[in-house]
Amino acid sequence: MRLTWLGHACFCLEGSQTILIDPFIPEGSLPVEPDIVAVTHAHADHMGVAVQLKKKTVAVNEVAKYLASKGVPAESMNIGGSITLDGVRFTMTPALHSSWLEDEGMGFYGGTAAGFVITMDGIRVYHAGDTALFSDMQLVRDLYRPDVALLPVGGRFTMGIEEAMIAARYIGARLAIPMHYDTFPAIQQDVQAFKQALERTTPIKVRILAPGESIELGPEVSEE
Ligand code: NI
Ligand code: MN
Repeated sequence: MRLTWLGHACFCLEGSQTILIDPFIPEGSLPVEPDIVAVTHAHADHMGVAVQLKKKTVAVNEVAKYLASKGVPAESMNIGGSITLDGVRFTMTPALHSSWLEDEGMGFYGGTAAGFVITMDGIRVYHAGDTALFSDMQLVRDLYRPDVALLPVGGRFTMGIEEAMIAARYIGARLAIPMHYDTFPAIQQDVQAFKQALERTTPIKVRILAPGESIELGPEVSEE
């Protein structure tokens, strides 16, 4: 599987299917044609171009209903549940955050915010969404054993570095990739400090990606 960070919270997973998570792309252009889109919550920096893409989209019930009203073939689900689409399994996990839908100058409640564990080609990727640290991240480890954890570290709206270090330990994935930092001034972060501190104190590897950068996730990342 090829994993690409497109900036902010947007990741592309390319394997037997092409999955796009939280399609807000700071650089503006989308380099792939996704088969399936996953939206963690309704905030504009996560919904992004989900309405315009009109691809099969998994989201929490309230967001899925909104997307469906805009002509998007949306698959509704909720926290704690799983759905398998075209051989890819999406499990929706809790996130400690809010959610707000904006549409033509109006705003309304977007349901609960979420994360996803996405299993494709035998590799399990946990995208935490926007979230605070919460101790039930240990259940994500116990239940789903993710190989890779995508963690917000920017602070202010989500976990910062200290919280994300504990989150990475709770989740137990061998590889952690920080996200949701430096997109705008309010979430500037010293992400190198996160890497150094986590690698000094745990066996977890941290990979800092540049926007647009890809890595290959092979069997070595999913070895027990
Ligand atoms: Ni948010
Ligand atoms: Mn956000």
